[in-house]
Formats: sequence, C-alpha cells, structure tokens
Amino acid sequence: MSADHQATLIDGKAVAAQIRAQVAARAAALAERGVRVGLAAVLVGDNPASHTYVRMKRKACAEVGIESFYHALPKDISQAELEALIDSLNARSDVHGILVQLPLPAHLDEQRILSLISLAKDVDGFHPLNIGRLAMKGREPDFLPATPAGVIRLLEAYGAPFTGADAVVLGRSNIVGMPCALLLTKRDCTVTICHSRSRDLPQIVRRADILVAAVGRPHMVQGDWIKPGAFVIDVGTNRISDQSAKDGSRLVGDVDFEAAQRVAGAITPVPGGVGPMTIAMLLENTVTAAERSLQ
Ligand code: GUN
Repeated sequence: MSADHQATLIDGKAVAAQIRAQVAARAAALAERGVRVGLAAVLVGDNPASHTYVRMKRKACAEVGIESFYHALPKDISQAELEALIDSLNARSDVHGILVQLPLPAHLDEQRILSLISLAKDVDGFHPLNIGRLAMKGREPDFLPATPAGVIRLLEAYGAPFTGADAVVLGRSNIVGMPCALLLTKRDCTVTICHSRSRDLPQIVRRADILVAAVGRPHMVQGDWIKPGAFVIDVGTNRISDQSAKDGSRLVGDVDFEAAQRVAGAITPVPGGVGPMTIAMLLENTVTAAERSLQ
C-alpha cells in the first residue's frame, strides 16, 4: 500500500437506512392487511448501556412502523416472574418478536429464559435451537442474531470475497464472536477464532482477508496487524475519556482506525459501522416474524 492509501469506508449508516426503508414498506403492507407489527422489549435492571440500547431499538421501531411493548423490570425480579412474562408474551398475537436485552442479572438463568421464547418470536436468534442450527451443516436457524447478521450484510454489500478467504474473528462471545464465526464458516471462509488466551495474536490477525474484531478493548488491533487489502469489521463500542469532546468521552472501536485505514481494503468506522446494522437486522427479523405469522 502506498503511504497515502485510504481504505474504502464501509458505511453502516447507509446500508442500515436501506434495510430500514425496506422494513418500513413491509410493515406498511402488513398494516394494509390489518396486522400491526409488534416487538416486545424486555429489560431487567439498570445497566446504563442496556437502557441506551433498548431506547435506541424502540425509537427505531417507531420510525419504521413497528409497535414496541416495553417491559422494564426491577433488577431483583425472580426467575419465576420473568418466565411468566415470557409465557404471556409468547401467547399474545400482537407480539411478533420478543427481545430480552442481555446481560441479565447474575441470579437469573439466562439460558432457560432464552429457551422459553417461542421459536416463531425469537427475533434475536438466541434460542439454543437456533444457535444449534447455526452450528450445523445443512441446517438454517429461523432467525440470525442481529449483530452477526449485520456484519455479514456489510461484507456482502461491499463485495467481500467469502469463499476460501481466511477470516479471523477476535472474540468468542455468544452474542457476537461465536455466531459470526459460524456464519463465516457457512460462507465457506476458513475461520480462526481468537480470544484473550490466544498466543501471538498479531501473527494470526495478519493472515486475515476478513477480520471481525469483537473483544471490547479500545484500539487493541494495531495498524501493522492488518493484512494489506483486508476487510475489517470493527464491532467494538468502547467509551474512552476525551477531554476535547463535549461530554468528556467518545466511542472508539477495537481497531486503531487511523492506522488500520491506511492498510485495509475496506473498514467500518465506530460509530457508524456495525452499530446501526444491529438495529436494522432486529427490525428485519421482527417484520419477517410478523409475515410468517400470517402463513
Ligand atoms: N446485548 C448486547 N447485544 C445484544 C443484542 O443484540 N440483543 C440482546 N438482546 N442483548 C444484547
């Protein structure tokens, strides 16, 4: 790469706006048939980031004509009470999708809660059966988890070469890293999953034609870790202090963007990359759930 090389900027805001417009049209078509698309958003406790995410998701619902039903629950709610709420949402015909914002407080059994969500309403794709299908050849989940699905959509939109490519996923979370790795495997990439215990991370990352960084460590991935021409998807949303910013802080990714964009072929900014896609994919899954409910 020449000294003044600049990677293509992967514009998640623009791709997400297109998806939201399609979702709005599909929701309007359903409304003509008498179906108001509905998403139930369940939030337990007072995690500030979770509150922000749920507020953004509900606002996005309103903008595309999806009704959201908000259930904000105290952090000490019992397992039985939360299970009863899920049962009641499963039974409601005006709720097409159920979103339980994660993480849940430690005393709650997350796996059991997620497994109680009706498969037809599992718009987050976190039901163990859907995750299991994602991991199996020749099987397809009913819904894909939103952030991983958004990552793949961005790579598609910018022409990433999946088949045979070396893909490296940094991070192995249930919500992002692991499902991303499974999706890339389904696309015939050769996938390496790295994590905090991996040896010689830079050397592994340098092999990546496609890099997905989802570790939550600000600027961990250095410019000289990037293979020239690589597709770099930065899922990190880390708040760091910045006295020059209005509120004294700003969001940065897991990748040193300034350095990486001089080497990469294409790269997502933070903010404005994966973030808007996560919400768009949730909306898309919800309208899909509503369409299927008519079949
Ligand atoms: N917590 C972090 N990301 C997500 C997400 O995509 N869905 C839910 N339900 N919780 C999350």
